[in-house]
This record gives sequence, structure tokens and C-alpha cells, in this order.
Amino acid sequence: MNTIREIQDKILKLKKEKDICILAHSYEAHEILEIADFTGDSYALSVKAMSVDAKTVIMCGVRFMAETVKILSPDKTVILATPEAGCEMADMMDRDMILKVKEEYPDYTVVAYVNTTASLKTICDVCVTSSSALNVVKNIDNDKILFIPDSNLGAYVAESLPEKEIKLLNGCCPIHASVTADDVKKARALHPEAKLLVHPECILEVTKLADFAGSTAAIMDYVRNSSDKEFIIGTELSIAEHLQYECPDKVFYPLSDKLMCKNMRLTTLVDVLRAVNDTGGEEIVLSDETITDAKRCIDRMMELNHE
Ligand code: 13P
Ligand code: SF4
Repeated sequence: MNTIREIQDKILKLKKEKDICILAHSYEAHEILEIADFTGDSYALSVKAMSVDAKTVIMCGVRFMAETVKILSPDKTVILATPEAGCEMADMMDRDMILKVKEEYPDYTVVAYVNTTASLKTICDVCVTSSSALNVVKNIDNDKILFIPDSNLGAYVAESLPEKEIKLLNGCCPIHASVTADDVKKARALHPEAKLLVHPECILEVTKLADFAGSTAAIMDYVRNSSDKEFIIGTELSIAEHLQYECPDKVFYPLSDKLMCKNMRLTTLVDVLRAVNDTGGEEIVLSDETITDAKRCIDRMMELNHE
């Protein structure tokens, strides 16, 4: 039987020989982050996708993330390490549904959270991630915004930008949205000295109770730059674990044990090894038309993501 270290060494050797770059979302397991060339939140991964040198990119994350890499690097071979890894929020809305909604709101700018399919992005105006949403929506030259699919991130943006009229639909991340104000009360009672940091995919009632709300990367940066010693982490459970490795002098408590995304947990080191040695993974194939139309929406995000 191979040890974790032996599998990691095989992956590292093969990826060097075959000119492969491995990208991993920060929610992935520690042993996968260790062999990745680049780790980060959805925005950081999108930016990285535009400048990868390697001819093949393996994404350890969920399907929309691999599609985003393909849209931004269409000439590269892009492999999703675990083909079954989807995103429950991205699967809540499709192109046909939003085409109908657009007919009701013809003068609204359609803002798509990056957690959407490539096909849906083709009919949206601007993409956002959790770390770019406030800047991008603020800089859109239209006060009327249709924000899809995450009604919680959308409500958080609406609360911060009252000058915008933001229409929301019924989508959400079921994992983040499962956390309640009661969970916050219990966690605060158990850890009265801890700072509460949450992801804006949580319901607005929870986000408003937090000391800080931000993307995965923003939560991690907050911890790195803080002189506080205890933190309650209101995003996927993996982040409290990664932070505990990185900051052993600080203590991290998960806000709720419901914060576990089974899709993000699907990818194993063996999946990555199979993707690297051509016996697993799935190559992402998108038509030229889908790539061109979806890219417009992501490019617009990059242009508008400034103060
Ligand atoms: P970020 O990577 O933007 O923090 O989003 C978290 C998430 O749920 C990814 O699916
Ligand atoms: Fe999708 Fe939520 Fe899982 Fe992120 S945490 S991949 S938004 S289901």
C-alpha cells in the first residue's frame, strides 16, 4: 500500500515530466493543497487561470471552477480531477430558466456569481466572485441589477450598496445557508473571546452577526493579519483546519459542523494521480461559442473589479 507521501511524490514527478499545473481551491484537503502549484479562492484561481504556462491544467475543485479555467485558457487541456464534483448552487439555475427571467427584467444588468455553469454565463452580463462582488456591482453603470444564483451573497451586496436596486432569485449554497443565528449564539457562548468570521454565502441574519464577512481568501487574510488569538470560522470546515496548520499559535472553532461541502470533499490524492497519469479525471470540452460568450462575462468582472 502506498503512503500519502509516496502518492504525492508520484504526482509531483509526473506533473513535472508532463508539464502539468495543478490548481486547487482552498476547500480541498490538506494533502492536495500540498502538491498544488497554486491554491486560492475562486477569484484568485480565475486570475491564475489567465497566466498559467503549462500546457495542461488539472483543477482540484468543482466543475464550474474547471470550466472557468477552460474559458480563460481555451488553448490548454483542462482536466477536472473528480468528474462527479459539482456545485449544488451552480446546478440550481440553467440558461433556459434565466432567459425567461430576463424577459421580465429587460433593463436589468444580469450579474452571475462565478458558481454558475459555463452555459449560463453565456447569457449573463457580468460575472462576480465573493471577493469581487462589492466592487463589481458598485462599478456597474446601471442601478438595476438581477443577481443570480446566490440570494445570500446578493442580499449581502444589496445591504452594502443601498443605491442599487437588486433583484434576487431563490438560489443559495445549501451548506453555508444551513447555518442559523442560533448556531452563532451557541458558538459565541462557547467561545466568548473569539472573533466570528463568515462567508457571505451565509444568510444575511448570520452575516450581520459576524465581526467580519468575506471570501475564503479574505477570511484567511483576516486571520493572518489579526492580533486576536481565537476565531470562529463560518465557512467550509476545511478552512478552520488549514488555518490551524498555518497558525499554530491561534485557535480555530468551526461555526457549525453542518459546514461540510461533500462535493469539495470528493477529490482524493488518488483522483489527482489518475488525472496526472491519464487514467482518470475528465477533460473539459466547451464549444468556441460558449467560450467566447462566457469569457465576455468574466472579462467584464476583471475590468470592473476596482475601488
Ligand atoms: P470563494 O472561493 O469565492 O470564497 O467561494 C467559496 C465557495 O463556496 C466556492 O464554491
Ligand atoms: Fe457549491 Fe456551496 Fe460547495 Fe461552494 S460550498 S462548491 S457554493 S455547494
